[in-house]
Amino acid sequence: MTTPKGTSGRGQRDLHVKVKTARGRKLSSTRWLERQLNDPYVAAAKRDGYRGRAAYKILELDEKYRFLVPGARVVDLGCAPGGWCQVAVVRVNALGERPGKKIGTVLGVDLQEVEPIAGADIHVLDFLADDADTLVKGWLGGRADVVMSDMAASASGHKQTDHNRIIALCEAAAEFAYDVLEEGGTFVAKVLAGGAEGSLQATLKRHFRKVANVKPPSSRADSSEKFVVATGFRGRPDPDADPAADEMDDDAS
Ligand SMILES: C[S@@+](CC[C@H](N)C(=O)[O-])C[C@H]1O[C@@H](n2cnc3c(N)ncnc32)[C@H](O)[C@@H]1O
Repeated sequence: MTTPKGTSGRGQRDLHVKVKTARGRKLSSTRWLERQLNDPYVAAAKRDGYRGRAAYKILELDEKYRFLVPGARVVDLGCAPGGWCQVAVVRVNALGERPGKKIGTVLGVDLQEVEPIAGADIHVLDFLADDADTLVKGWLGGRADVVMSDMAASASGHKQTDHNRIIALCEAAAEFAYDVLEEGGTFVAKVLAGGAEGSLQATLKRHFRKVANVKPPSSRADSSEKFVVATGFRGRPDPDADPAADEMDDDAS
């Protein structure tokens, strides 16, 4: 449904544009330019008014798992330049453009400044900073139905370092999700395939009814990126619950 037009449907554009190396341009830049010119999702983003091809990743994940519903309260971590926010604003009906449907909210944060997006509340923030959780909770002003993270540190070129960094970001996002999600809520986050994500998966499985690892069609085949989609948040343990209550129940039986 979201496969861009003008493609064979297998992520290949029908006409391949070749870029010649030019004086002063590095080979890596030439390759990047060629890939951009031949990427059907880049062309589609331009046509559809999205700020980047990343928009199709959340569109495709949402086509499958349906978490961006009218009325949903969404937190988008690492939201620059804003593609995911653009998609979320429309799908949760943040601008109230679909009469009769519930109105949702979109809160985005990123290290970088983001051009304003109507219907989204966006803040510049390092999500790994000590007070980040408290700040985002304050802006949110209550629970969220969806916490999604596309956060990624700039590539260091060292595979293991990049992997560890993205897992650290993902774990911070997950910890935040456990704190703010409404029961039944959804957590979506970018991870890189590479081993260390095992403990994260195990923790997610304790907190959510279903945990899936997905590579949406728009995610480049040559990237080790994938997404974890955790649905059916089980809710937070009641902080006022008497830890001895279980024992008392056992005794009573
Ligand atoms: C792939 S981009 C996100 C693209 C976005 N989903 C979109 O649709 O436009 C990854 C973003 O994560 C952000 N990021 C990385 N580390 C972060 C951190 N510690 N706190 C907040 N944002 C961070 C980067 O600044 C970058 O904008």
